This record gives sequence, structure tokens and C-alpha cells, in this order.
Amino acid sequence: MVKLVGKKKIFVAVFISGNGSNLKSLIKNFKNNPKIKISLVISNNFKAYGLIYAKKNKINYKVVKYKNKRNAENIILKLLKKNNIGIICLAGYMKILSKYFIVKFNKPILNIHPSLLPKYKGLNTHYRVIKNKEIFSGCTIHLVTPSLDSGKIIAQKKIRIKKKDNHHTLGKRILKIEHSLYWKTIKKFVSSL
Ligand code: GAR
Repeated sequence: MVKLVGKKKIFVAVFISGNGSNLKSLIKNFKNNPKIKISLVISNNFKAYGLIYAKKNKINYKVVKYKNKRNAENIILKLLKKNNIGIICLAGYMKILSKYFIVKFNKPILNIHPSLLPKYKGLNTHYRVIKNKEIFSGCTIHLVTPSLDSGKIIAQKKIRIKKKDNHHTLGKRILKIEHSLYWKTIKKFVSSL
């Protein structure tokens, strides 16, 4: 992995597929930050609501459709290079990045996942957590590796599940803590590089 040097400003690309509430929070919290700039948004989905936040904030964005994974990833890699991106932050990006992509990018990729990893990797986490009558859930920020939701854990926040919670209410509460955990973790992570 390439070491990011000195106190230079880091350009961040955020990858989204849907609502983009995490993107919204990152944009808000890094506005006017002297060291970290959200400078590119990538989506695989033209209809991703979150693109509105890129437009509103005049952040360069690009929708890259995945007809062919390798082609899509090559297009994204070019965009990352062109925009001098130092870190990727996945925020509800529903495509799995290949080993090829991760190796070629060769810089940190972070992901936020709505469970207490290593428990509940993959999709429908809140539904499975409720079904299994867990007492706690939460969210995790981890480094992205070729193995899904399995890279080194950087930060985690736990909440107690309420008796009346269903997967919707739990999801909403966890999303709220994601919004405060993600930007703080990125800030710390960048200053440790
Ligand atoms: C978030 O809960 C995020 O943790 C999850 O998708 C949601 C996106 O919300 N990510 C994953 O499940 C990735 N495996 P947002 O679009 O409102 O930020």
C-alpha cells in the first residue's frame, strides 16, 4: 500500500448506490476542512438519490454502469487518477470491488457496514439481527479487501436493540450513528497516514 506523504490535502472519492445520507453527512462535516476534500462521487446507479448532494454542492460526480465489471472498474480507476484521489470511502455502494481494482488503486478504501462485524456480513443485516434476537447491533468502518466485509476494523459503534425495534427502526437508529462515526473515523484515519 502506498504511504500518503506529508500534510498535503487528501482528495476523497465517495461511492454510493442509493440514498446517500452518509455522503450528505461527509459533505457537511468536511466542508471547509483544510486537509480533506470530498472531490468526487461515483455511483453505479443513475437514480441514486444521493447524487443530488453532489450536484447541490458542486462536487464532480460520475455514474458508471456495470455492464462489464472489468470495464466499469477501469473507467472508475481512470477517474480516480484524473482527480488525484487519495482515499475511497464506500457509503452504501452495492457493488463489490474486485481484487484487480483494489490492487490497481493501491490506496486506502474504507467501507461503512451496518452491523457489528465480523457478525452479519453482506445484505439484510438488520433483518437478520432482529430475527436472531440479538441484544446489540451497530456499525463498523473497515478497510476494504477482496474478501467481503472482512478487512481490518478501524472503528465500531454499538447500540442496544430495543424490545420494540423492528428492522426499519433499528436501521434508522444505526444510520444516525453511522453519520457521526464515519466522518470522525475518516478524519482520524487520514491524520494517521
Ligand atoms: C448504510 O446503512 C450503509 O452502512 C449500508 O448502506 C446504507 C447506505 O445508506 N451499507 C451497506 O450495507 C454495505 N454493505 P445511505 O445511502 O443513506 O448512506
